[in-house]
Amino acid sequence: IAHGCDASVLLATNPGGGRTERVAPPNNPSLRGFEVIDAAKAALERSCPRTVSCADILAFAARDSITLTGNVVYSVPAGRRDGSISREEDANNNLPPPTFTAQQLIDRFKNKTLTAEEMVLLSGAHTVGRSFCSSFVDRIWNGNTPIVDAGLSPSYAAQLRVLCPSNTSQATAPIDPGSPNVLDNNYYKLLPRGMGLFFSDNQLRVDGNLNVLVNRFAGNETLWKERFATAMVNMGRIQVQTGNCGQVRLNCNVVNPMSSSVSLAGSVEDDGLAATS
Ligand code: HEM
Ligand SMILES: *[C@@H]1O[C@H](CO)[C@@H](O)[C@H](O)[C@H]1NC(C)=O
Ligand SMILES: *[C@@H]1O[C@H](CO)[C@@H](O)[C@H](O)[C@H]1NC(C)=O
Ligand SMILES: *[C@@H]1O[C@H](CO)[C@@H](O)[C@H](O)[C@H]1NC(C)=O
Repeated sequence: IAHGCDASVLLATNPGGGRTERVAPPNNPSLRGFEVIDAAKAALERSCPRTVSCADILAFAARDSITLTGNVVYSVPAGRRDGSISREEDANNNLPPPTFTAQQLIDRFKNKTLTAEEMVLLSGAHTVGRSFCSSFVDRIWNGNTPIVDAGLSPSYAAQLRVLCPSNTSQATAPIDPGSPNVLDNNYYKLLPRGMGLFFSDNQLRVDGNLNVLVNRFAGNETLWKERFATAMVNMGRIQVQTGNCGQVRLNCNVVNPMSSSVSLAGSVEDDGLAATS
């Protein structure tokens, strides 16, 4: 069973019981903003009932965040349907941890049909947002002793130790300290300066083939933004449910009650996703 772009991450409970993706350690407490998705869903159910899936809402929200933070405009195919199963172990087994090597990152993306170049392109999303200290604390502290992991700038490590004073700190740090709210190509410029926050970020410059791409995207923001948008569209095609598979959830947090049959009208093409939205 595929649990890709089917909004399984939004389910707060499973009909069959068991813990969900959303409470898995890689997602919790990191994932937030569920109320924004709920508000969009509520508005859509008022204006156009039983038509727009939660999986499509997530894809549109990602697109709109990119437009708002990066001034990048692109179209996203529509027509994904929502899944009915969410399992904690799917998140644990599929999301790459920040301790992965270049080869492990390439393999994990390949398993989801994404190329090494797309892995490098999509990693540029680390130009926005924040991370809990736990994802990089072992690069700056060994117990109470300051350390500097390979590939990390000593002065940046010192700044990070101020934000993350100990292994038990629940604090967060910006992933791109220069412009944490702007989607630009700064991520790729930080890497050669020893300012990739995660061990996994630094792997993109340690691997020679990947580093060629890092330099290319650092040198041409237009090129990165164009290809990033295309990679986002490709990522949004992973393990989609269309046709008679899945459902259009009425509430993104729970699967529909058995009695409510909801179908999705509209034309479908090759992979079942309609051309644009
Ligand atoms: C290449 C493998 C990747 C690894 C190992 C990775 C790892 C991480 C980690 C550990 C965090 C911090 C989570 C926290 O502490 O709350 C994070 C945050 C983030 N990641 Fe990734 N990530 C990867 C790929 C991606 C991709 C493909 C995207 C999107 C296209 C992305 C977008 C983000 C964003 C926007 C944040 C900040 C979220 C926030 O502010 O809460 N990452 N990532
Ligand atoms: C991805 O990994 C899963 C589980 O490990 C495996 O069953 C599947 O065949 C892999 N898919 C690809 C495209 O490598
Ligand atoms: C942080 O604490 C965890 C849990 O006690 C431990 O496993 C880990 O080794 C510690 N890391 C560092 C860098 O001290
Ligand atoms: C940067 O990339 C854009 C888009 O692909 C291209 O049109 C432009 O010629 C590139 N600029 C340079 C200086 O290479």
